[in-house]
Amino acid sequence: MRNTLVAGNWKLNGSKASITELLKGILDGMSDGSVKSQTDVAVCAPYIYIPHVQELLQGTNLAYGSESISEHDSGAYTGEISGSMLNDFDCKYAIVGHSERRTLFAEKDADTANKFAAARKHGIKPILCIGELLEEREQGVTESVVARQLDAVIDLEGVEALADAVIAYEPVWAIGTGMTASPQQAQDVHAFIRGKIAALNSSVAEKVQILYGGSVNGGNADELFAMPDIDGGLIGGAALKAEDFLAICRAGK
Ligand code: PGA
Repeated sequence: MRNTLVAGNWKLNGSKASITELLKGILDGMSDGSVKSQTDVAVCAPYIYIPHVQELLQGTNLAYGSESISEHDSGAYTGEISGSMLNDFDCKYAIVGHSERRTLFAEKDADTANKFAAARKHGIKPILCIGELLEEREQGVTESVVARQLDAVIDLEGVEALADAVIAYEPVWAIGTGMTASPQQAQDVHAFIRGKIAALNSSVAEKVQILYGGSVNGGNADELFAMPDIDGGLIGGAALKAEDFLAICRAGK
């Protein structure tokens, strides 16, 4: 049985003070045992706050990571942060290929695959985001879009690499819009993703956690996480308030 993972993606939000309060609130809420033992919880923070997050989360069961990672190890790449730098602060996860990176910062499938490889090389679990635009869903090409995004990683790293990774299916039209995919719509794509992986390696398909992301909140998480191929969520807006985030952490199988 796969564990559930609820991961927060803070994006470009927070301050030292607000993050302190948020993490204290989450830790407090987790301390009463209301989050199931088979649910893992993580937060992905802006780079600059990672040392602060590390300090606050030392010795707790709340994991943390970054929102991106450089595909390069070192060199003349102004403004970038490498996997070895993230290792210095014990990051467990790095989000790669978030739709905002793809659309606002022009990251291509190949860039995402290189970032995925860089994370794995440094023992950091990539959270690989894939998902279709609204017009792609309307054109009926959702499956070919997510297949293409996944193939970029499988072609570079091999399907076995997904055993140490997390996939987040995030329909772009559902991110930050309040328009969640229905549990069945999400399950259908999750089953397609797992089936595609299973065709190459069934044990990897059984093992890989596939999260849903896109306007998840305390009111819809239960139904979404109850679907057989949905193993938790990648949470944006609702990860910024302890109570909202905790409600999602308490949902699920
Ligand atoms: P949202 O963001 O929960 O605010 O829709 C999800 C994401 O971007 O990962």
